Amino acid sequence: MKILSVFIFSCIVGICLGAGASISTGGSSSGGSVTETEKTRLLKRGHPLSLTCSPNITHATTLWEKDGKEIIESERIKLFSNTTLYIVSAEEGDIGEYTCRHTNLLETKTFVVVEFSLQKHLPKSTTVLENDKLSLTCQVDGNPHPIVQWLKDGEPVQESVNSSRLTLSENEAGISNGSLLINPVMKSDSGNYLCLITQSTIQFNTTTDVRVKDIYAALWPFLGIVAEVIVLCIIIYIHERRRIKKNFDASDIDKISEQKVKEENKENEVRQRK
Ligand SMILES: *[C@@H]1O[C@H](CO)[C@@H](O)[C@H](O)[C@H]1NC(C)=O
Ligand SMILES: *[C@@H]1O[C@H](CO)[C@@H](O)[C@H](O)[C@H]1NC(C)=O
Ligand SMILES: *[C@@H]1O[C@H](CO)[C@@H](O)[C@H](O)[C@H]1NC(C)=O
Ligand SMILES: *[C@@H]1O[C@H](CO)[C@@H](O)[C@H](O)[C@H]1NC(C)=O
Ligand SMILES: *[C@@H]1O[C@H](CO)[C@@H](O)[C@H](O)[C@H]1NC(C)=O
Repeated sequence: MKILSVFIFSCIVGICLGAGASISTGGSSSGGSVTETEKTRLLKRGHPLSLTCSPNITHATTLWEKDGKEIIESERIKLFSNTTLYIVSAEEGDIGEYTCRHTNLLETKTFVVVEFSLQKHLPKSTTVLENDKLSLTCQVDGNPHPIVQWLKDGEPVQESVNSSRLTLSENEAGISNGSLLINPVMKSDSGNYLCLITQSTIQFNTTTDVRVKDIYAALWPFLGIVAEVIVLCIIIYIHERRRIKKNFDASDIDKISEQKVKEENKENEVRQRK
């Protein structure tokens, strides 16, 4: 009986854990690499950074400006005659807008140097219970701050979710609109949620499929299993009681018959003596 109750207890615990695990997020992948464009370049601190004004020109005097101020060649910043600006080891102060000009170039060219990182993609899928809350965070950071927008099935989330239930706030890195909260969640909130990140001319996104589960849909299988366990317990209990009672009765009958045999033997002895 003791072993049985331990077994049933562990079953119940297992079921609880199983039910808990089903209400969670799907597989997630770690940070993604963002490809730079010709005009928007990513700065990596401590790494070299080079900008080339006109790739096919080998001999020209190039005038470089950063945020409107002329760049003077130094130990850290080299200006080559092939119109390349080379920063030996980039630092935060190198973030900004660069323009270049030389005699063979009709218009100035512009480069934007930014910092940008996406620490983690959204999980592939997110399951949430109806009336519970949905919380999604775009773990993005950048300098200058990137613009974050949330789309639900391709439309701005503000248009499909009631404004009183929707809250957009800063993420941990302080990026505006980086975190989305819907509370309480309705069935109609199911869909594809996309975090669209814009950093200068780079656009990047991460997306998750949100499923809103009926609160009873999660509860019914659990209640079914609980009912099953209770019925099983009752059956075992009744069975055990019957068995114990039967054994008791049987041993009583044995004692009585033993006594009878003894008495009969005595009688026989007495008869034989006579
Ligand atoms: C540079 O030269 C290559 C061939 O050497 C050519 O394909 C390319 O278009 C040129 N680029 C520019 C900006 O002139
Ligand atoms: C420009 O010249 C420098 C120094 O000679 C060289 O390291 C670099 O690769 C050149 N860049 C291009 C785009 O040719
Ligand atoms: C917005 O919320 C109200 C009440 O909370 C509800 O009646 C209405 O259907 C909701 N509209 C949409 C588009 O979800
Ligand atoms: C955040 O989102 C709101 C609503 O769409 C928008 O009005 C606001 O400009 C956004 N903030 C930033 C910094 O992008
Ligand atoms: C999101 O990124 C994917 C892959 O880079 C791209 O195909 C898709 O067009 C992007 N979606 C939006 C809305 O920018």
